[in-house]
Amino acid sequence: MTPMAINDINDVVAIEKRAFKNPWGKLAFINELACNGAYNFVLKTGQRQHLIAYFCFRLIMAELHVLKVAVTEEYRNKGIASYFFRRCLNAIPDKFDLAFLEVRPSNIAAIRLYKKLGFSVNGKRPGYYTDTDEDAIMMGKIFKGGSYGC
Ligand SMILES: CC(C)(COP(=O)(O)OP(=O)(O)OC[C@H]1O[C@@H](n2cnc3c(N)ncnc32)[C@H](O)[C@@H]1OP(=O)(O)O)[C@@H](O)C(=O)NCCC(=O)NCCS
Repeated sequence: MTPMAINDINDVVAIEKRAFKNPWGKLAFINELACNGAYNFVLKTGQRQHLIAYFCFRLIMAELHVLKVAVTEEYRNKGIASYFFRRCLNAIPDKFDLAFLEVRPSNIAAIRLYKKLGFSVNGKRPGYYTDTDEDAIMMGKIFKGGSYGC
């Protein structure tokens, strides 16, 4: 696992386009790399260091917002996201009390992942996904006494 670098962005965007109905473009990731409080990680494998997953977080005060979680298709359902998520949280040097995210109700794999990681449903954002007019499920995890990881 390494911090996302500018040279990773073409591979990230290629996965992003396939993984999301409303994908971020290249510029969004470039901006994220320059953003204060942003933590962006990639996971690579094999001799050729093929990029297979990327996760993006933003730390605002002591709240960690999970912005992007994606694993390339052929590596899904093998425990990669469960493993990589924990490693990312442990790599964030600042303390946080709470992590939260939004997820589509139809995204069964992601909801299972987050529940497995200790997140619970704590609300919804009506009409959050404008492309399908889906509400977002809000999920959060409290780190009692604060945490540098999980
Ligand atoms: C969501 C995503 C990141 C999960 O990554 P992953 O590496 O496959 O996840 P894991 O293998 O660690 O599995 C996590 C849990 O989800 C379950 N899961 C994974 N894929 C699943 C699927 N297609 N259907 C149902 N459950 C699934 C696993 O069984 C596991 O739960 P368990 O251990 O209790 O059985 C991946 O599917 C993905 O990149 N999807 C497209 C992008 C996306 O939707 N991101 C989330 C946006 S909120």
